[in-house]
Amino acid sequence: MSVKQERRDFIGLAFGAVAAVGGALSLVAVKKTWDPLPSVKAGATSSFDLSPMQDGEMRQVVWRKQPIFILKKDPSMPPNDKRDVVVGDARFMIAIGLCTHLGCIPQWQPNKQIFFCACHAGEFNADGVNTFGPPSRPLDIPPFKIEGMKLVLGETSPEYEKLVNKA
Ligand code: FES
Repeated sequence: MSVKQERRDFIGLAFGAVAAVGGALSLVAVKKTWDPLPSVKAGATSSFDLSPMQDGEMRQVVWRKQPIFILKKDPSMPPNDKRDVVVGDARFMIAIGLCTHLGCIPQWQPNKQIFFCACHAGEFNADGVNTFGPPSRPLDIPPFKIEGMKLVLGETSPEYEKLVNKA
């Protein structure tokens, strides 16, 4: 083999190696682009401790930039097996706090025990079920899981599947 031939072979191998490394780095870059940002991953689930809540207390929390209603039902509120999240002896109403008419945020009115949507006077009862006005369906239930007295939003569970299939 001549010196020229050897030189050509070496240059060919060197170009091939550079192309292979470049291709691998490109694949890594593409994967990084497709993967969700760490901030998005961190916001996928949120946990809330239900244990300090009092009977009749309504809390509005935020999950994935959406308002979430958590109402700990008091004994005057009738149980609703199609909607209640039962944790120990307590029953909770958990719903996405966006009106199912056009997406306004209803306000909890404890004296009337309703969620009132001021946009078009829609009403939902303490179970999150539409009772008056233009909303045609109950408030949506977010995917959730119960761990002890902790509510984890963003993960499904048999309890969630049961409610969604009944609601
Ligand atoms: S958006 Fe709530 S009643 Fe219309």
